[in-house]
Amino acid sequence: MSANDLYELDRQHLVHPVSAWATQEAEGPLVLDRGSGLTVKDHTGREYLDGFAGLWCVNVGYGQKTVVEAMNAQAEKLAYVTGYFGFASETAIRLAARLAELTPGDLDHIYLTQGGSDSVDSAVRLIRYYWSMKGEPQREHMIALEYGYHGSSSTGAGLTALANFHRGFALPLATQHHIEAPYPYRHRTGLDADVIADCEAALRAKVAELGADKVAAFFCEPVIGSGGVIVPPKGWLKAMEKTCRELGILFVVDEVITGFGRTASMFACDHEDVVPDMMTMAKGLTSGYAPMGALAISDRIYREIRDLTPDGKAIGHGATYSGHPVAAAAALEVIRLYTDGGILSQAQKIAPYFEARLRTLADHPLVGDIRISGLLAGIELVSDRETRAKFAPELKVGKKLLGLTRDLKLLVRCFDDGIIGLAPALTITPEEVDLIVERLRNAFDALMLQV
Ligand SMILES: Cc1ncc(COP(=O)(O)O)c(C=O)c1O
Repeated sequence: MSANDLYELDRQHLVHPVSAWATQEAEGPLVLDRGSGLTVKDHTGREYLDGFAGLWCVNVGYGQKTVVEAMNAQAEKLAYVTGYFGFASETAIRLAARLAELTPGDLDHIYLTQGGSDSVDSAVRLIRYYWSMKGEPQREHMIALEYGYHGSSSTGAGLTALANFHRGFALPLATQHHIEAPYPYRHRTGLDADVIADCEAALRAKVAELGADKVAAFFCEPVIGSGGVIVPPKGWLKAMEKTCRELGILFVVDEVITGFGRTASMFACDHEDVVPDMMTMAKGLTSGYAPMGALAISDRIYREIRDLTPDGKAIGHGATYSGHPVAAAAALEVIRLYTDGGILSQAQKIAPYFEARLRTLADHPLVGDIRISGLLAGIELVSDRETRAKFAPELKVGKKLLGLTRDLKLLVRCFDDGIIGLAPALTITPEEVDLIVERLRNAFDALMLQV
C-alpha cells in the first residue's frame, strides 16, 4: 500500500492513544515499517535511531530472532490457553516461576496481565479486596505522587497525576490523592536529605489528614517516567518503604518502565534492597514483542487474601488474555536474553558512558537539568538557566523539538514542557550513544533559533 493511502486510512480510522484527535488527523502518522537493533525505518525507507525503545519498552532492541522463534513455536503448538477454570500453559507457569525468582524478596506470586495499566488496575482491585477481607473496608484511600503515571485504566488514571488524564474524566476520585514528588531540580533546597524528608513528611501528613485507618496504599514509580523522567535522590525509595511500614499502609512500586534492566539493574528496587507489597511490571517484560504485564504479590499478602476468602468463592478478577501463552513465550525468551544472553550486563557496562556523554550537554545554554538512572534519562530545557523558568506554553517547545529531532533522524520523547526523555535499547553501542548526543546538540542549537 502506498504511503499516501496509509496516511489517509489512518486519518479516517485509526484512533491514536493519548492524542489530540483533530491535530492527529490533520498531521497524519509517521508509519514505521521495520527495525533492527536501535534502528527503525519508516514506510518510505527513511532511517531513524530510536533513542526511546518504542515507548520505553523494546529493551532488547528490534529484530531479536530468538524471541520471534519462541513466539512462533508456541503459536504453532497451542495459540491460546485460558487461565480460567484451572487451565494453564507451560509458558505461563514457567514465566510466573521465573518472575518470582527475579523479583525481590517474597514477591512470589504473579498475576499475568495485558500491560501496565492492567497491572496497576489489578493492584488497585486486589488491594481493595485485601482490606475488605481483613475487615477494614473503610481503607479506601490511595496516595500517589505528583507527576506520577500509573496508566490509563478508569481508576489507575486517577492515581496518575497528569492533567490530561483527569480533564473530562471526573478524576481523580475522592479517594485518590497526590503528594509532593522527589524532584530535586524544582525543590526548595535541592538537597537530597531535604527532598527525602519532605516527601516522607508529605506522606505522613496526608495519612494523618485522611485518617490512619482509612488509607489502603501508597503507589510510586522508582523513577518518575511520563511525568518528566524525574530521578529521586538515592535512599528515597527505601525511606518511602520504611514510612509505609510505619504507617501500616501497603507499599506498591510501579516498575512498568524501570523494570527489566532499564536502570541498569533487573529492577530499580534492587538498588536499595526494597521489597514492596506489590510490584507492577510490563514493557521490558516482553520488550514490546507481545502485550503483557505482571503484578507480583508478596507471599504475606497472597496468603492473607487466599485464607480470608470464603471457602470455594472465586475472587472476581481476571481477563481472557491473562497469562497468554504466546506473550509468555516472548517474555521467557526476552528474560533469557537479559540474563544468560548478557544484555543486562551489557547495559551495566554502557550505562556510565551513556551518562558521561549525556552530561556533556550540560554546557548548552538551553539545558537546565540532566537526570539519569542507568539507560533512562531526562533532559530539562529551560528558557532561563538562572531562574530555571520553563518556556511559555505558546512556544510549543515540545512540538518543535519533536520536529527537529525527527528531521535529524532521532526518535526521543519530547514532553510538552521542554523535557526530553531517553530510553534506548539496552543493547546500545558507544557509537550510537555518540550519535544520540550529537543529534540532540544539533536539535538544541536549532531550537535556540526558534525560541
Ligand atoms: C509507570 C507506568 N505505569 C503504568 C503504565 C501503563 O502501562 P501500559 O501503557 O502498558 O498500559 C505506564 C506506561 O507508560 C507507566 O510508565
